[in-house]
Amino acid sequence: MKITLSVIKADVGGYVGHSDCHPQLLTRADEYLAKALGDGLLIDYHVTKCGDDLQLIMTHQQGEDSKEVHKLAWDTFVGCTEVAKQLKLHGAGQDLLADAFSSNVRGMGPGVSEMEFEERGSEAVIVFMADKTSAGAWNLPLYKIFADPFNTIGLVIAENMHQGFLFEVHDIKDAKKITFKAPEEIYDLLVFIGAPSRYMVKAVYHRETGNIAAASSTQRLSLIAGRYVGKDDPVCIVRSQGEFPAVGEVLEPFSLPFLVAGWMRGSHLGPLMPVAMADSTPARFDGPPRVMAFGFQLSGGKLVGPRDMFADKSFDNARQQANDVADYLRAHGPFEPHRLPLEEMEYTTMPQVMKKLEAKFTPLG
Ligand code: 13P
Ligand code: 13P
Ligand code: MG
Ligand code: MG
Repeated sequence: MKITLSVIKADVGGYVGHSDCHPQLLTRADEYLAKALGDGLLIDYHVTKCGDDLQLIMTHQQGEDSKEVHKLAWDTFVGCTEVAKQLKLHGAGQDLLADAFSSNVRGMGPGVSEMEFEERGSEAVIVFMADKTSAGAWNLPLYKIFADPFNTIGLVIAENMHQGFLFEVHDIKDAKKITFKAPEEIYDLLVFIGAPSRYMVKAVYHRETGNIAAASSTQRLSLIAGRYVGKDDPVCIVRSQGEFPAVGEVLEPFSLPFLVAGWMRGSHLGPLMPVAMADSTPARFDGPPRVMAFGFQLSGGKLVGPRDMFADKSFDNARQQANDVADYLRAHGPFEPHRLPLEEMEYTTMPQVMKKLEAKFTPLG
């Protein structure tokens, strides 16, 4: 049975500031998706939030980039924006960058991660959702999950994974893509994906079966809008077990709160803290950045779950370390590398300050 799993998200208004999603937005979103379920467009759905980002997790048989499913997501976000406006939530409609829906939501502001696959005898999937960070944040964990034997022992000792995986990498500045073979091309792969503001792992495939293993959202809001409108707060789907890494191997990279771009005003480097949904409420300096992981078993396209995977105590040390790293980085105040380098800053007063002071600059020597 071929199933499409679509995760489509947007920030349509924050409560309070950029720290959370108001429960009425989730209720409104649920009404839209319940209707689509009744109409037979969806097989199943789950509405949730990560920080101030509203998340629509949907299963259906319309394939990727389906106009109907994307329109449903767009209409849902528009409907939720009305609620956000009534409540005067912060930045109502923040991520809806187009006036009207065309054929799909790509390039219109919402983040999208989708994959179509033949449902296996047992189909475990993990949906990762992040807040206060950029597309590209999945590069490091996807590399560890699918190419690093120190993370994924299955690459060494499981026969059905030993041949490795293919990484599809997008250059989002030049709109080009390339595929790398792991393990033999990992040095070339890392040259690119080690620079996640430009090169992003879009998808991962099993080399022998060709089956899709992971798909991420790579929308860069600032590139679409040409100005700062909020961070991308990306999502990623990873299939697990059998020919794919085990659930514990998929979660393991997040035991390190690795540094990502985002946090306050989208202009700082900060640790990515793995959290349960209830703790996806970035508060300190609008952060630190958060990541959630919802696990599902699919059964005939039905979403059995979610299990809130980072609610587990085994991630307590990662959270503590993230708070310690946050203390250390915050002490740098407005200095790089806590503040992002000029070309990656979402906010800057540099042009105005420069204009004001231009006449005061004099040549060196
Ligand atoms: P499978 O059961 O999917 O083969 O994976 C083994 C496993 O779960 C080890 O943690
Ligand atoms: P969001 O991208 O989550 O809306 O955060 C924006 C921001 O500027 C936080 O300081
Ligand atoms: Mg926001
Ligand atoms: Mg957000």
